[in-house]
Amino acid sequence: MRIIGINGSPRKKGNTQALLKVAMKSSKIDNVKLIHLVDYEILSCDGCGACWKTKKCPIDDDLEKVISELVRSDAIIIGSPAYYGTVSAQMKAFIDRSGELLGARGHPLKGKVGGALSVARRWGHITTWTALLLYVLEMRLIVPGAGWGAATAMKPNEVINDEEGVERAKELGKSIGKLSRILSKKS
Ligand SMILES: Cc1cc2nc3c(=O)[nH]c(=O)nc-3n(C[C@H](O)[C@H](O)[C@H](O)COP(=O)(O)O)c2cc1C
Repeated sequence: MRIIGINGSPRKKGNTQALLKVAMKSSKIDNVKLIHLVDYEILSCDGCGACWKTKKCPIDDDLEKVISELVRSDAIIIGSPAYYGTVSAQMKAFIDRSGELLGARGHPLKGKVGGALSVARRWGHITTWTALLLYVLEMRLIVPGAGWGAATAMKPNEVINDEEGVERAKELGKSIGKLSRILSKKS
């Protein structure tokens, strides 16, 4: 089985990736991949609607590379820092572009297991987490209840000191791993 974490932070050694790693480790899924969106060029959606006719996006960038990684995975966790109370610009572009294209393609991620994690310094944990959660639910992922996946931190790696936030990430990872194993036996 394969689990993938999508890091929306431009800080590749920051808190979001640290939290995603905690969750993925806790899933006990052996094949683990972490994608930093900042390593990929994903431009914002221009709303042309072409994908709904052609099932392709006319913008020539790295979106398909990330989508193919998602399609090859059994479980997906997306994470973002709070930027002014919502997801980072990298994550927003990814949500809009992949959301439209995957919708046009009939939701190929349907039935995979997923979840979301957010990190904020003080305000906006839940609004950020909710934006991520709305995406994974709209993509038809199966999301286990594991509490509110949000942690508090500012400087890189500070998140490890937020015991309760780390605990929620572990709980999410554990539930995602368990559910993925159950579903893989039944399908
Ligand atoms: C542009 C920007 C906007 C931010 N907006 C918020 C915010 O709305 N609420 C908050 O609590 N922290 C905010 N922060 C702090 C980050 O969410 C926090 O430092 C987080 O740990 C960053 O995660 P990272 O290390 O994965 O990048 C902001 C930081 C930046 C750079």
